[in-house]
Amino acid sequence: MAVFDLIIKNATLPDGRKGIDVACKDGFISEVGLNIDAEAKQIIQAKGYLLSPPFVDPHFHMDATLSLGTPRLNVSGTLLEGISLWGELKPVQKVDEIIKRALKYCDLAVSMGIGAIRSHVDICDNELKGVEALLDVRKTVAPYLDLQLVAFPQDGLLRSPPARLNLTRALDMGVDIVGGIPHFERTMGEGRESVRILCEIAAERGLMVDMHCDESDDPMSRHIESLAYETHRLGLTGNVTASHLTSMHSMDDYYVSKLIPLIVEAGIHAIPNPLINIMLQGRHDTFPKRRGQTRVAELRDAGVTVGFGSDCMMDPWYSLGKADMLDVAIMGLHVGQLSSRLDMEWCFDAVTVNSAKIMNLDGYGLEKGCKADMVLMQAKDKIEALRLRANRLVVVRGGNIIAENDSLITTLSLGGRPSSINPADYVPSGL
Ligand code: FE2
Repeated sequence: MAVFDLIIKNATLPDGRKGIDVACKDGFISEVGLNIDAEAKQIIQAKGYLLSPPFVDPHFHMDATLSLGTPRLNVSGTLLEGISLWGELKPVQKVDEIIKRALKYCDLAVSMGIGAIRSHVDICDNELKGVEALLDVRKTVAPYLDLQLVAFPQDGLLRSPPARLNLTRALDMGVDIVGGIPHFERTMGEGRESVRILCEIAAERGLMVDMHCDESDDPMSRHIESLAYETHRLGLTGNVTASHLTSMHSMDDYYVSKLIPLIVEAGIHAIPNPLINIMLQGRHDTFPKRRGQTRVAELRDAGVTVGFGSDCMMDPWYSLGKADMLDVAIMGLHVGQLSSRLDMEWCFDAVTVNSAKIMNLDGYGLEKGCKADMVLMQAKDKIEALRLRANRLVVVRGGNIIAENDSLITTLSLGGRPSSINPADYVPSGL
């Protein structure tokens, strides 16, 4: 009889299969099926709860996280004041402070079942403090968290004089992906030029691109069109991601009917960041106020891979957050009015499999042969996980338990009513 390192018994999988056992050995999933009859060094009773591959956060800013209030708070709540506030912090922060904050964030992220993060890192300071810090953090967290880094010219590739040289220095140091922010360049023309330069750098080096793109309420912002053009021209299909795309919320429908097929043709992935953009966008509107989330369902239905990112936690742009990708998904669901059963299930995919695909993660999933990375939640299925922002009971990495939590059961003293409640027991009677 085979001896496994770990067997998780009686789980519900994201595809709806119930009563499933998952057996792991040497860091990989060896078997998935009903009633696996084998010995294991460790057995977890899933009790019918949802077992998923880890959450994946495809868009974050780890160099800024947990800096809230330093040197001051964002009063207007806008993206632009956030960028200027970050500009005040950059010269005074130290590498060891960035490392300390980032590691503290990673601890929380792992406890919330996140297994991979793509973080942008600002390369506009000549000392490249964020790059030095996050390369160090990437090495430290590697045993328990996959960290991809994007060289991000926060102050504009062309608008910030040292950005172009610093971007190539950062890539030489080991940063993985080419970033950009064309809507922050001085003119639409310079934004377009920055997209061309950045895509050419990526093509020369064989790297992926992930650009902040059209993160504004300007219906005339056209950098996604340029990004689709350059992706197509340079043969980068499948390796390019456009983050935010909030201007698409405000664009003319006729123009979008031309634009989405261009995005599809170029094989560009999309990463809306619901928590941040519902907070930052529409700030110049009186009423009605625009939501500022890109056209999620329309992009998805056209065949674009869409993953939700968290973007920020307790930094110059967003003072809240708790590294909870279910919070991110639930906001995307509400803002996008993705309320059908299929749409809600898709929102769970947007913070797991879709984002894993965008990040090109190796061995992600719950099939035989995948990495033994997973998270068990106190919920019966994907929709219930979203509804409850479910308690993460067990987080597994490489077949080892790396985080554990007690079941959330509340004791009641109501006289004649049940003595305790489990939030996961509230299953809809009509389903
Ligand atoms: Fe961002």
